[in-house]
Amino acid sequence: GAAELGPYRHYMQKEIFEQPRVIGDTLDGVTGIMPELFGDGAYNVFKQIDRVLILACGTSYYSGLTAKYWIESVAKIPVNVEIASEYRYRDSVPHPNTLVVTISQSGETADTLAALKHARSLGMEHTLTICNVATSAMVRECKLAYITRAGVEVGVASTKAFTTQLAALFLLTLALAQVNGRLSDEEETTHLKAMRHLPVAISSVLALEPLIIAWAEDFARKENALFLGRGMHYPIALEGALKLKEISYIHAEAYPAGELKHGPLALVTEEMPVVTVAPNDALIEKLKSNMQEVRARGGQLYVFADVDSRITPGEGVHVIRLPEHYGLLSPILHVVSLQLLAYHAAVARGTDVDKPRNLAKSVTVE
Ligand code: G6P
Repeated sequence: GAAELGPYRHYMQKEIFEQPRVIGDTLDGVTGIMPELFGDGAYNVFKQIDRVLILACGTSYYSGLTAKYWIESVAKIPVNVEIASEYRYRDSVPHPNTLVVTISQSGETADTLAALKHARSLGMEHTLTICNVATSAMVRECKLAYITRAGVEVGVASTKAFTTQLAALFLLTLALAQVNGRLSDEEETTHLKAMRHLPVAISSVLALEPLIIAWAEDFARKENALFLGRGMHYPIALEGALKLKEISYIHAEAYPAGELKHGPLALVTEEMPVVTVAPNDALIEKLKSNMQEVRARGGQLYVFADVDSRITPGEGVHVIRLPEHYGLLSPILHVVSLQLLAYHAAVARGTDVDKPRNLAKSVTVE
């Protein structure tokens, strides 16, 4: 009811603003990196595996895609990420030394549970879940688990569950790296410090809300949008487009920016807003030339840049700067700005934000 919502208009907005706290809760008690964070016997499992298979649906699938970038780059273990409803029905090549990771807010998604059972039926017994509900079927079915502490998520469009999944997946990355001999004590300390600073860093992104509202009012008048990202921010662009579709009903697509020239550039006109996730990382110069390609066709750029990305606003180039550059954890900050953009676009269009048409919070039938 209204009392629970406090100063917020919708549960989704409340849940977006809860992220600093629930990420803190999810990391509470983590004083060091060790496999046992994921359960008894995790060390032996992590020692035996030489690849990772991530299975999930919806927003949880995008946290898995982000984790692929982290795990391959930090732990140097190959990762496949599959949409659960596809994996369960396709012929794949099983490998016994696989860590099967399911990601689920509810722990009850029928396709993800079935994909897990399918993996097991193929002889893959090393199972781990990142899940928000400790008593769920998913947690019961997996040997290892990390329970995110997002609390109850009411909004159908997932927000705080996603960022807490990312926090847990980063811990998993570090634990796998450690077992693989790729995490020095010094690196462990640096990463833990960055993780502990996340609540403060996210709060500073939330403080950008008034600037984002101004953009959302432009968006509310559009019927299409493109989202661009590169590297580990490509899954964040996908998640931003999904959020916008789900609650504002604006058609949105995400592309890795280097792929623009292979198709979506044909859609770009003065009418096309192009949201660009532009952290100051190794790909920033490449991304800037992708942005030029959009501007040359009249596309309107809405850029979420880091404080030091050196992107200047101008004709058709709108820029909001995130206060910090956050290295490997940057996706967790950038997605918050995209959640706010989708939320305020939906509010401006007057949709039923917490219960978008045709969608359910948890899909327990196929
Ligand atoms: C539904 C929800 C999404 C969620 C997806 C997967 O489609 O609307 O927000 O991402 O299910 O749910 P899960 O509980 O498995 O994370």
